Amino acid sequence: MSLESMAERTAELFARCFGHAPRWIVAAPGRVNVIGEHTDYNDGFVLPMAIERYTVIAGDRNDSREVTLHSVTTGETATFNVREPLTRGEPSWSNYVRGVVAGFQQRPIKVPGFDAVIASTVPFGGGLSSSAALEVATATLLEAITGEKLEPIEKALLCQKAEHEFAGVPCGIMDQFTSILARENHALLLDCRSRTTIPVAMTDPSITVLMINTNVRHKLADGEYAKRRSQCQTAASALKVPFLRDASAKALKAGRSKMEPIAFRRARHVISENERTREAAWAIQAADWATVGRLMYASHDSLRDDYEVSCKELDAVVEIARAISKENGLIGCRMTGAGFGGCAVSVVRTEAVPRITHQMDEAYERKTGIQATIFSSRPAAGARVLK
Ligand code: GLA
Repeated sequence: MSLESMAERTAELFARCFGHAPRWIVAAPGRVNVIGEHTDYNDGFVLPMAIERYTVIAGDRNDSREVTLHSVTTGETATFNVREPLTRGEPSWSNYVRGVVAGFQQRPIKVPGFDAVIASTVPFGGGLSSSAALEVATATLLEAITGEKLEPIEKALLCQKAEHEFAGVPCGIMDQFTSILARENHALLLDCRSRTTIPVAMTDPSITVLMINTNVRHKLADGEYAKRRSQCQTAASALKVPFLRDASAKALKAGRSKMEPIAFRRARHVISENERTREAAWAIQAADWATVGRLMYASHDSLRDDYEVSCKELDAVVEIARAISKENGLIGCRMTGAGFGGCAVSVVRTEAVPRITHQMDEAYERKTGIQATIFSSRPAAGARVLK
């Protein structure tokens, strides 16, 4: 579905729910991370792009203290009072909105009561940042409602804090940052320390980015994420650096005896992934796709063996990709996002997309008994006000 027709339908539904047309319609994209996984909270490098999958919110002030949210995806309605201290509540998706409203209030920016209808084409739990898209769409709507525009980085940090405090996930900055600052036809090489970006053009029409959703999400995801974060901090302390971003492969080798084997392997992933990410950005710029593919597979192996955040379904996708091979147009493939299910990302020759989609679909179902969902996307632009 195009963004325009999504916006139209969301506005229609708003009118049906609330009896008048919405004053604003906003959209924020999901993202796929091409490479640079579990590096953002280590102050390192990531290379994501926004995808043409969006969370759209139609909204208006309502002259009350109540916020009323209707989700098209779940059919649920959530309400809360903006004058009372905001806390976590039900339904669980409303926490992303509550967290962002709380962030505005802490600025302090006065948030009035409002009505909203929320629709999304970002698959939930697919590792494509459906939660960041909802946070960023909410923040974009609140900017419109309150007339207070935030600096993009400040806005990303506010949304990240909402995720930390209202969803309990100690995430890095990549997802929110990308949903706000992404550029059409570009991936972004983001330095998570300086929060500066280098846009990397992805305009070559003969190359397509494919998302392969395993359609599984293993329960341990959130707890294991927090554990990885603290293991990285342990390794950094053993190496006497503030973050693993500051450690080299050589320093890690020299410091091996100062840490548990598990911390060593976590650090080896992060340090090598930072190198791969920068190398991949240069390789894309040079249209050196063979190098990009090699780095993507190396990233997956490292996430599977050293970081241990893959799962058998993601490994199955990557094995199938390797078997299809670059001779048949499949350049590279790896798990993307936090892991333990969700999507793999693959870079393929555009002419081979139909054949690869078919082969992947069949082989994945044969191996796992599960139906994958496969779709492509050009790099999309960041969040915007549509009306
Ligand atoms: C999740 C987090 C991000 C990042 C990735 C792993 O998407 O929200 O901040 O840490 O996992 O790279």
